[in-house]
Amino acid sequence: MAGCGMSCLKILGAVFGGGLLLTIGILLGHFAIPKGETGQGAPNWVKTVGRDLDESLLQSFMDQVESGKIRENLKALAARPHMATTEGDEELVKLMLSRWQDPQTGLDSASEDVYGAFLSFPDPQKPNSVTVVENSSLIFSTRRSEKNVTADQAHADVVQPYAAYAPPGTPRGKLVYANQGKRSDYQELVNMGIDLNGTIAITRYGGAGRADKAVNGAEFGVAGVVVYTDPADINDGRASEKETYPNSWYLPPSGVERGSYNGYFGDLLTPYYPAKDFTYRIKESEIQGIPPIPTQPIGFEDALMLICNLDGPEAPSAWQGSLNCTYKVGPGFRTGGMFPNTSDVQVNVHNQRRIKNSSNVMGFIRGSEEPDRYVLYGNHRDSWVHGAIDPSSGTAVMLEITRVLGKMLKEGKWRPRRSIIFGSWGAEEFGLIGSTEYTEEFYSKLRERSVAYINVDISVFANATLRAQGTPPAQSVIFAAAKQVQSPASSSGSVYDNWRNHFNRNSPIYGNIPNLGTLGAGSDYASFIHYLGITSMDIAYTYDRNKTSARIYPAYHTAFDTFDYADRFIDPGFTSHQAVARTAGNVLLRLADSLVLPLNVSDYGEKLDELYNVAAQGDFLANLSASNISLDPLKAAIGRFKLAAADFNQRITKLKEEESPSPLQIRMVNDQIMLLERAFLNPLAFPNKYYYSHVIWASKSSNHATFPGLADAYTNAVKTGDWDQVRKHLTIVVQAVESAASTLEAVA
Ligand SMILES: *[C@@H]1O[C@H](CO)[C@@H](O)[C@H](O)[C@H]1NC(C)=O
Ligand SMILES: *[C@@H]1O[C@H](CO)[C@@H](O)[C@H](O)[C@H]1NC(C)=O
Ligand SMILES: *[C@@H]1O[C@H](CO)[C@@H](O)[C@H](O)[C@H]1NC(C)=O
Ligand SMILES: *[C@@H]1O[C@H](CO)[C@@H](O)[C@H](O)[C@H]1NC(C)=O
Ligand SMILES: *[C@@H]1O[C@H](CO)[C@@H](O)[C@H](O)[C@H]1NC(C)=O
Ligand SMILES: *[C@@H]1O[C@H](CO)[C@@H](O)[C@H](O)[C@H]1NC(C)=O
Ligand SMILES: *[C@@H]1O[C@H](CO)[C@@H](O)[C@H](O)[C@H]1NC(C)=O
Ligand SMILES: *[C@@H]1O[C@H](CO)[C@@H](O)[C@H](O)[C@H]1NC(C)=O
Ligand SMILES: *[C@@H]1O[C@H](CO)[C@@H](O)[C@H](O)[C@H]1NC(C)=O
Ligand SMILES: *[C@@H]1O[C@H](CO)[C@@H](O)[C@H](O)[C@H]1NC(C)=O
Ligand SMILES: *[C@@H]1O[C@H](CO)[C@@H](O)[C@H](O)[C@H]1NC(C)=O
Repeated sequence: MAGCGMSCLKILGAVFGGGLLLTIGILLGHFAIPKGETGQGAPNWVKTVGRDLDESLLQSFMDQVESGKIRENLKALAARPHMATTEGDEELVKLMLSRWQDPQTGLDSASEDVYGAFLSFPDPQKPNSVTVVENSSLIFSTRRSEKNVTADQAHADVVQPYAAYAPPGTPRGKLVYANQGKRSDYQELVNMGIDLNGTIAITRYGGAGRADKAVNGAEFGVAGVVVYTDPADINDGRASEKETYPNSWYLPPSGVERGSYNGYFGDLLTPYYPAKDFTYRIKESEIQGIPPIPTQPIGFEDALMLICNLDGPEAPSAWQGSLNCTYKVGPGFRTGGMFPNTSDVQVNVHNQRRIKNSSNVMGFIRGSEEPDRYVLYGNHRDSWVHGAIDPSSGTAVMLEITRVLGKMLKEGKWRPRRSIIFGSWGAEEFGLIGSTEYTEEFYSKLRERSVAYINVDISVFANATLRAQGTPPAQSVIFAAAKQVQSPASSSGSVYDNWRNHFNRNSPIYGNIPNLGTLGAGSDYASFIHYLGITSMDIAYTYDRNKTSARIYPAYHTAFDTFDYADRFIDPGFTSHQAVARTAGNVLLRLADSLVLPLNVSDYGEKLDELYNVAAQGDFLANLSASNISLDPLKAAIGRFKLAAADFNQRITKLKEEESPSPLQIRMVNDQIMLLERAFLNPLAFPNKYYYSHVIWASKSSNHATFPGLADAYTNAVKTGDWDQVRKHLTIVVQAVESAASTLEAVA
């Protein structure tokens, strides 16, 4: 844990910087515009400074987005494996640069930012495996690589399945089945009378973070962890070769989900600092949140051999999966099964950790009127294997957006009001490294100037409906865009209508609307929202939940995530990719070109109410009352926020009605909108959690769906009686909401 010394200093710096800018702004307001001046004979900027979003240009952008071009992009991007820092990744760095520097369709400029990222790779000379051994003889070994089922998955660079950051070692012991490897799962085994000391635990993906399965197991004395994907969780129960890829989109029995076994994000050796040559690096032994014990993922074909031969009591019904047997928990193998009942399981891990140069590729379009205001759009570039869906479906979309914008730019038809920055992030799969290092390197500048961050990682999980996540101000701009894009599923409806059919909620203010999800920390938006407090959103097409309950698209992080898989099963025709490109591009243009930022600050009010209401009822409220803790100050703060937001929106309406609103007044309200999200930051709120400074969206472990700090402190207090932490976190929330209200109130 690196503490917050530096980040606190940086925040003070930002506050001072903001004050200075404001002062300069006021001075300019007094002296820059001569009184009584009209349009005639006025300087040129008077004609352009009030320019608003051009709807016909927006339409022309959407018309030019071609599904065929996205398909071509995807074919090029997924042609060879491109795991972070490998040759395939470096080839794509060149591809991105050449596209963004193209004289006909490129951006104003593009460049490469390099960081020395701490990564982890298997040893090609000593492949990892999970084996069954008796005495010194080998009885069974899991496969070293996935079965070759289609031509386009073969390549010498396909990395064998492994758990990135799991330490090397060859622990051996009796096998137990530990469900999802949650702390409660291991506890359940102990409650069943099983001694976990020295065992090897086999766990299925889901329920707990990848690294947590090993971190939790080690606390119970487990010596090694095996992780597999259960067909119940990913294949709607389908487990045979006949029913899986290449015959359907389901995961073949040999498929293995790779992944980073890392609970935090950003480069692990340089928390809070960009991973440059000059940067101080902590000791490897100081890293937290990675497996303390050897860990290895396997396919369900091999997991079946292990689980279906276990001895011991039956596993609880909630732990049963779709392998063809009743799951038992062990320890060890049953008599009369495939393996001698005395045999052990050994986890053989030979991973090596290395610092390697990883690049972000950055593309820029300079804004005409407000070049110092940034709209950011990004996706990572690195994959685990061919990565057709993750992440190339998103990169294929980003390249089509930049092609169309680049063309309009080079033809002199358009230049955005604000600057646009595109990021092709490196080493996301290892823990959001490229994007996090970028936010660390440009911490002050990005906090002072960024309007919003749009993330499109996997652009199409499935072809049924839009799925968007974001903070409440993003709702208005995403809705506006989604209403203008034709749904690929029907000839009449919009992406918005189709979205509302699939995922909706009843809003007390708007009635039935699509449900905008909340941002966790699953992709590169994490450091933008949690660390910098920049309004962020993530946009994709996704599943029809009436048709599949798959945890994620079945080929995720496996050798089967290929162009052929995407082309045949995820989005034949690429019309969903096209719909995402149009929607995300529409959002981008609205943010870059609208005179007044199209982010409705009032929408935060509904979310604050929702979080408040969870705390203000039932046991939660009763327990608070019993400890003399009142929610009244929070209620008052939220009331103040909603009033301030409504007044603020009225001021904007009036301003827009003016014949020629003062550019300084416009700039002032835009800055208030931009800085609203920043008002919810408190870098001292969660001293033990890297990067989580946003008081509304920080991660939490409690099940109570209220403010995260309050929820966790409450859950803890019910157990320990420490109600002072609840008082502290209530204060933190009240103070954040009051600050947010005060950001929106009339400035003087
Ligand atoms: C393992 O050793 C035990 C006794 O030490 C012996 O009974 C058994 O046959 C051995 N198994 C193998 C596969 O060698
Ligand atoms: C994988 O299978 C395809 C045919 O499906 C074949 O063309 C290719 O040579 C195979 N590759 C390897 C390494 O076996
Ligand atoms: C676990 O087993 C090891 C030997 O295998 C022993 O030294 C240790 O004391 C055991 N720990 C517990 C908590 O039983
Ligand atoms: C499931 O296992 C049983 C024997 O345990 C076998 O008869 C049956 O064919 C298996 N089913 C499948 C789908 O593999
Ligand atoms: C293990 O299997 C052998 C036969 O292979 C049997 O004699 C023995 O009783 C079994 N041990 C246990 C604990 O079930
Ligand atoms: C990364 O690249 C820089 C030059 O750009 C070089 O000085 C450094 O040694 C490289 N680091 C690694 C780990 O390759
Ligand atoms: C979605 O993909 C499936 C094939 O996986 C296809 O049958 C269906 O027509 C597609 N739907 C849309 C709306 O494109
Ligand atoms: C899903 O199924 C439910 C229940 O049958 C139905 O009400 C709903 O409209 C379906 N959703 C979609 C998007 O088809
Ligand atoms: C902004 O949000 C408020 C409440 O959330 C709503 O009443 C208002 O209509 C919205 N304004 C616009 C322009 O959408
Ligand atoms: C506090 O909450 C617990 C449940 O978490 C409940 O059992 C208990 O009755 C509550 N205490 C009060 C005073 O309401
Ligand atoms: C709550 O306040 C009342 C009245 O001030 C006092 O009698 C009581 O002891 C307090 N309870 C707690 C748990 O602090």
